[in-house]
Amino acid sequence: GLTAQGETAAHSPQAASEPTAPEIVVLYGSQTGNAEGVAEQAKESAKARGFPVRLVDMADINKKEFKEPLNLMVIVSTQGDGEPPDTAEGFHEFMHGRKAPKLDERTRFSVLALGDSSYEHYCQTGKEFDARLETLGASRLHDRVDCDVDYEEDAERWIEAVLDRYAELSGGTSQANQAQPATTVATPQESVYSKKNPFHAEVLESVVLNGRGSDKETHHIELSLEGSGLSYEPGDAIGIVPQNDPAYVDELIDKLRMDANCDLGDGRCLRDALLTEYEVTTLTRPFLEHWAEVSDAAELRRLMDQESRDELRDWIGGRHIIDVIEHFPVEQIDAETLTKALRKLPPRLYSIASSYQADPDEVHLTVGIVRYEAHGRSRGGVTTTYLADRVRPGDSVPIYVDRNKNFKLPQDDDTPIIMVGPGTGIAPFRAFLQERDERDAQGRNWLFFGDRRFRSDFLYQSELLNYRKRGLLNRLDVAFSRDQAGKVYVQDRMRENAGALFAWLQEGAHFYVCGDGERMAADVHRALIDIVREEGDLDEEGATEYVRELQQAKRYQRDVY
Ligand code: 2AM
Repeated sequence: GLTAQGETAAHSPQAASEPTAPEIVVLYGSQTGNAEGVAEQAKESAKARGFPVRLVDMADINKKEFKEPLNLMVIVSTQGDGEPPDTAEGFHEFMHGRKAPKLDERTRFSVLALGDSSYEHYCQTGKEFDARLETLGASRLHDRVDCDVDYEEDAERWIEAVLDRYAELSGGTSQANQAQPATTVATPQESVYSKKNPFHAEVLESVVLNGRGSDKETHHIELSLEGSGLSYEPGDAIGIVPQNDPAYVDELIDKLRMDANCDLGDGRCLRDALLTEYEVTTLTRPFLEHWAEVSDAAELRRLMDQESRDELRDWIGGRHIIDVIEHFPVEQIDAETLTKALRKLPPRLYSIASSYQADPDEVHLTVGIVRYEAHGRSRGGVTTTYLADRVRPGDSVPIYVDRNKNFKLPQDDDTPIIMVGPGTGIAPFRAFLQERDERDAQGRNWLFFGDRRFRSDFLYQSELLNYRKRGLLNRLDVAFSRDQAGKVYVQDRMRENAGALFAWLQEGAHFYVCGDGERMAADVHRALIDIVREEGDLDEEGATEYVRELQQAKRYQRDVY
């Protein structure tokens, strides 16, 4: 990234000659809707202060806009490996390519970057836009803010700070309205339950979907929504507020030679706080930086150097906070120093596997339980083991509905859909099919499902075969990767059916992918481009453009993790 932030002050905009209350463009790139939600909030706040304001999706921005000076508030998230959101990819490429617009200091910007600090390329896309806008000549009105998974408060502060700067530039006129609170965006029938106020949903059922001999453990979990007023649409997710594993927390406290019951100064005791409030497993860069200081371990300090990047990545692999504490012990630590190093325990999202239209009193999830051994210790996913081991039917689990506008059935029930959902990626497609069944939608449905073995891992087998028999599923192609000598994956089935798949796309089909984002999603993407290239008689560039257009038109949607 650029380190020249001090330079921007050199060409500070000429406030005096500016017209009052300039139009603000809130430009956002969003994958699951978080960045879009913040953008809406920014728009409302700007409006409340009397600014003319426009909300623009990076997917829809007209490149000619950059011929005129703009007042930008850029809000963008970063995907797993440092990539922009799907719908923002075209704009990202445009801004970084040879045809990028030439800007001058009359275009002002500030970037809010959403990300997850447990990833190496934390907030990468936001950092890139921030650096690039400066390189292209625009002036940075306010420093970029990077926010972690608990982004809400940082986002609010950024919005207000940037609007303060815009208000200063316009001679403070738009501050007249500042006292007026921003109207919160809420649809009238919204439930009282939300991320901040989760609903305690009773676990009705939790069953393992895999058969004997499987090396996977996938749970089908049914939760009660009765009395919650919560509703959801296919494609939405459920946020689960988990608790850490008590055995792990106790081991941690033990290793630190701390008192489990010590008071954190505000009535909370250490053990409870570590169980319910802080993330105590996943390593993040801020934690490691903190720990390097606290432990004063030369080796850890060295690992944190820019030059040790690759070595650090290898070292982190399979390790958790407890390993760091073990490796780089401290003599003594007080509760405040410890909790300061930790981030808030983030809720985890699971794609909903049922349709509200089919049963409004329940919500179903398909959860792959994460368990493995590494560096001599057995490990588990915080939320997946919480669901599998620490709650049972009759218990309640704090949940909320997390809307995902970017993973939705077509508006038109007649539009055909193609769904690619191996493993737990099946979840939203079970919801899609239930919904289309309930609505008696006439559009054709094609599902690609894959997992390891037919006998033990064909999730929802009888339901899916029944849908196929009844004709709700027009096509069902399965790939069981370990039933034969060579691996067979969903993308192989796609390639085998290239002609039909391309024909469906030409007929307006929407294409959906859900599941593993590390390799599967990229391999399926590659297969899609190959199919379009061959069947559409296009070259690589043409095929890439075709697929990009599908994405921009929201006919190609992904929910990958
Ligand atoms: P594997 O574990 O045998 O490699 C669901 O997890 C299914 O996705 C499994 O059959 C798994 O196969 C498969 N899978 C693994 N990597 C994949 C990839 N790159 N593309 C598609 N499917 C993949």
